[in-house]
Amino acid sequence: MSQVTNTVRFVLDGKIVEAQGERRTTTVLDYLREQLHRTGTKEGCAEGDCGACVVMVGSLNASGKGVDYVPVNSCIQLLPSLDGKSVKTVESLKKADGSLHPVQQAMVDCHGSQCGFCTPGIVMSLVNLVQVNPAPKRQEVSDALSGNLCRCTGYSPILDAASKACENKAALKLDDAADVPLLQEIRRSATPTLSLEGDIIVQPVVRTRKGNEFVSPATIAEVADYLVKHPTSTLLAGSTEVGLQVNKQFARPDHIVYLGNVAELKQVKDTPNAWHIGAVVSLTEVEGLVATAYPDFAEVLRRFGSPPIRSTATLAGNIANGSPIGDSMPCLMALGTTLTLRCGDKTRTVSLDQFYTGQKQTVLKAGEFIEAVVLPKPQAGQVFRAHKVSKRFEQDISATCAAITYTLKGGKLSNVKLAYNGLAPSPCRAPKLEAVLEGKAPADVKESDLDAAIAASFVARDGLRATWAYRSLVARNLVIDFIEQQTTEVA
Ligand SMILES: Cc1cc2nc3c(=O)[nH]c(=O)nc-3n(C[C@H](O)[C@H](O)[C@H](O)COP(=O)(O)OP(=O)(O)OC[C@H]3O[C@@H](n4cnc5c(N)ncnc54)[C@H](O)[C@@H]3O)c2cc1C
Ligand code: FES
Ligand code: FES
Repeated sequence: MSQVTNTVRFVLDGKIVEAQGERRTTTVLDYLREQLHRTGTKEGCAEGDCGACVVMVGSLNASGKGVDYVPVNSCIQLLPSLDGKSVKTVESLKKADGSLHPVQQAMVDCHGSQCGFCTPGIVMSLVNLVQVNPAPKRQEVSDALSGNLCRCTGYSPILDAASKACENKAALKLDDAADVPLLQEIRRSATPTLSLEGDIIVQPVVRTRKGNEFVSPATIAEVADYLVKHPTSTLLAGSTEVGLQVNKQFARPDHIVYLGNVAELKQVKDTPNAWHIGAVVSLTEVEGLVATAYPDFAEVLRRFGSPPIRSTATLAGNIANGSPIGDSMPCLMALGTTLTLRCGDKTRTVSLDQFYTGQKQTVLKAGEFIEAVVLPKPQAGQVFRAHKVSKRFEQDISATCAAITYTLKGGKLSNVKLAYNGLAPSPCRAPKLEAVLEGKAPADVKESDLDAAIAASFVARDGLRATWAYRSLVARNLVIDFIEQQTTEVA
């Protein structure tokens, strides 16, 4: 291990790139295009929506002998977060003999490109997919492309290209043998630097002349120590909110604390009653974690952004950001999730349904952060249902998302927990609706009682994405759907 401060070091196609003198908010996309002239990667929207900027980011795998890749929207990822990682762009794909990657060749053969603007992003999403799944089903290809917009070709030839590419399985894997030793060479330290007195010193990756820093600590202790010393710092997890604030609101946080290098925060601790999901576990991993226990939650996550968003975005980031239409929170609240909050060396537990104090306001104190999201495992007899309603099926923001848990005992609903987004200044439980349901047989629940409880619980307001009339109707109908479909008691 070696570490160079004020230099972002990453691996690109068998070489170490050392980026010096860059701002802490330079995006990966801007650096690739403007400094490395890798102009194959395009800028469309600069907000994670169109996929024209998709590249693959690699990290050494657990054995330290191979590279695991994820697709990312380079427009909203900050360059210093690449320190210690590797990148593959569309230019990485062509072999020394000039031959194309099977995905590129199939895009040519199947006429999968017209103006070509979206093509590099589409190719990178597909190449990423076939690294881990060399025989994807058509639906899996479609899912992988849900964050790639093409406005002229149409998707059929692109889906055909993916099938055709997979006929040449032997050539799908990227040859990254030369990258592995270089990734080992630039691997970031896994232990804190200590002063002679034994105090933690967090070395910045980038430090500007004004003294603003981008730090990438390796341990929770360093994060906690840094935040106590610099309580106004911005935490950076998956960057799918912060990247937007940088690009669209020109946010320039003083200090940025990147959590993606903290091994403890990347782990899921499996206990008999709950999963303790570290603050930088990606939504892609959470989707896999809950697929069997809570299939509706997994479906909400499958429709959350797109694969390049979910590959970095986190539950903790979704929760801390506190958007009124945040999608994970209704599911997490209905399931009785708690948060482990840390400040310095002290932790406390807060129930997620007590976390928000107003629109984007939370109980987090200065210097405090979310260490883990504690998701209870299914309980005997518990039913869990959730559904997101949005205009587009994928890559869209909720009109509302609702989630419920209950048990059906002797034909009656009990232990009801119901939560929504989109109806109030923050995602929240709906105790008045829960009271309507508690103790009733599903067939005895009256729509008029639910409507009255909705009217008494929320302030009617039309929003950009839906009118109140629509939202409140959907809020009621989702409850009816959740309870009517469950006709038998669950063991
Ligand atoms: C194209 C696109 C599509 C999207 N689609 C959806 C969607 O379908 N549904 C939805 O709900 N959201 C969506 N989002 C919003 C975003 O992806 C989510 O809110 C995501 O979960 C944020 O997580 P992150 O790790 O990227 O957060 P970051 O951007 O890294 O951080 C977000 C905020 O949380 C703070 N933070 C991060 N980690 C912690 C921590 N451990 N403790 C305390 N504070 C912390 C940061 O300081 C920042 O204020 C979308 C965003 C984009 C760009
Ligand atoms: S430029 Fe549109 S997703 Fe990045
Ligand atoms: S080929 Fe033109 S946008 Fe896709």
